[in-house]
Amino acid sequence: MDTGNYPEETFFGDVLRGSGPVQLIETIDVSGIRTRRCTGEFWTSNQRQASSLHEISYRACFKPQLPRFFITGLTQEGDRVYDPFSGRGTTVLEAGLLRRRVAANDANPLSKILTQPRFFIPGEQEVAARLAKIGSDKSATAEIDLSMFYDPKTESEIVTLRNYLLDREEACETDPVDFWIRMVATSRLTGHSPGFFSVYTLPPNQAVSPDRQVLINAQRKQVPEYRNVRDLILRKTRSLVRGLSPEDYRNLNKAGTDGLFLTGDSRNTPKIPDASIRLTVTSPPFLDTVQYAKDNWLRCWFNGIDGDAIERDLTVTRSLESWCRVMESTFRELFRVTVPGGHVAFEVGEVRRGRIRLDEHVLPVGMAAGFTPMGILINLQRFTKTSHIWGVGNNDSGTNTNRIVLFQKGTSLPDVRE
Ligand SMILES: C[S@@+](CC[C@H](N)C(=O)[O-])C[C@H]1O[C@@H](n2cnc3c(N)ncnc32)[C@H](O)[C@@H]1O
Repeated sequence: MDTGNYPEETFFGDVLRGSGPVQLIETIDVSGIRTRRCTGEFWTSNQRQASSLHEISYRACFKPQLPRFFITGLTQEGDRVYDPFSGRGTTVLEAGLLRRRVAANDANPLSKILTQPRFFIPGEQEVAARLAKIGSDKSATAEIDLSMFYDPKTESEIVTLRNYLLDREEACETDPVDFWIRMVATSRLTGHSPGFFSVYTLPPNQAVSPDRQVLINAQRKQVPEYRNVRDLILRKTRSLVRGLSPEDYRNLNKAGTDGLFLTGDSRNTPKIPDASIRLTVTSPPFLDTVQYAKDNWLRCWFNGIDGDAIERDLTVTRSLESWCRVMESTFRELFRVTVPGGHVAFEVGEVRRGRIRLDEHVLPVGMAAGFTPMGILINLQRFTKTSHIWGVGNNDSGTNTNRIVLFQKGTSLPDVRE
């Protein structure tokens, strides 16, 4: 491996402008491909804080600073930014706040439920009035046993809300206030603090099974206490919009109105026109590490979604070969939708304790689809207790790393000096 002191502009070009300190740029060989790898702390230091609007938890989500870094470096206002594995919608929300157009896709319908409403934010008074109108039917109970999570009165309030939302959906009457309430309630179903509807359990994006919750309750000698669903929805509403400027509301509304919010497979997105995406910033499902549908069973129940059917649609591969095949087809689709000169920033982690470096596998896969690899960017983040608790992958040296493979459509290979 060669190590050189290359000028930044010959490496990732515009993207490194305005970044944090670059620690190392080196030339490496990956599967016979000579490329550059750049290591630094690009978006944790000297960055303005992320918008509170992102604070919806989702398994394996990335920090908003990651997409912001690429969006500001590689796009202009009005360009369309896409995420084919959109999750809680981090990329598209950040893009909307930055006055870009947006396209989001995820095989899990919960992704759209959590993302789209945050582009059309209702006033707190409207939310309060709607919740008052919905009220609570004291006799309403769930068709499944949820007593290990909720006090009976809390359960009635949740079930009343669920029935109202499902009825409105069936009658095609759901409006932005309903969509907002559904998004907030979905994010509050279970968690580890009194800000959630449930008794203490794991963080909200990884609901445990009822049997496991019974054990947690016994171990902690706890019984579910009453939680006021209406008050908690209003509290979370205030928290999500704190710090948003009137301009943020306008930018999001504009991006949402013209946005594409798709539920489907990343390999087949016919609703996205050819050559319409300037930048993709995404993080695919990793090898067998996260079970998105299983972790979200309670969120699926609340939204009347068949979690088992979703599980079948999601990519949960155990072998590297089959993972690479899914990604190869995804890259072919990304090549179709990307404008000439546009970029793909593909974030992967180290899996199986660093024994598999997915970045090095992604490089030839993206090339096979026609993209030019610009290099691998490794963002080092200082270890934080929170990231550990919330299940963000940490490597052994006590840091979190994001590994991003950057591709461009239709340029010649960058000059990599010997
Ligand atoms: C690592 S998460 C993305 C998280 C996202 N970056 C965020 O900040 O929330 C991967 C996502 O891929 C979705 N997914 C899995 N297989 C898929 C497929 N074949 N097509 C589209 N989405 C898929 C999962 O539902 C999950 O939301």
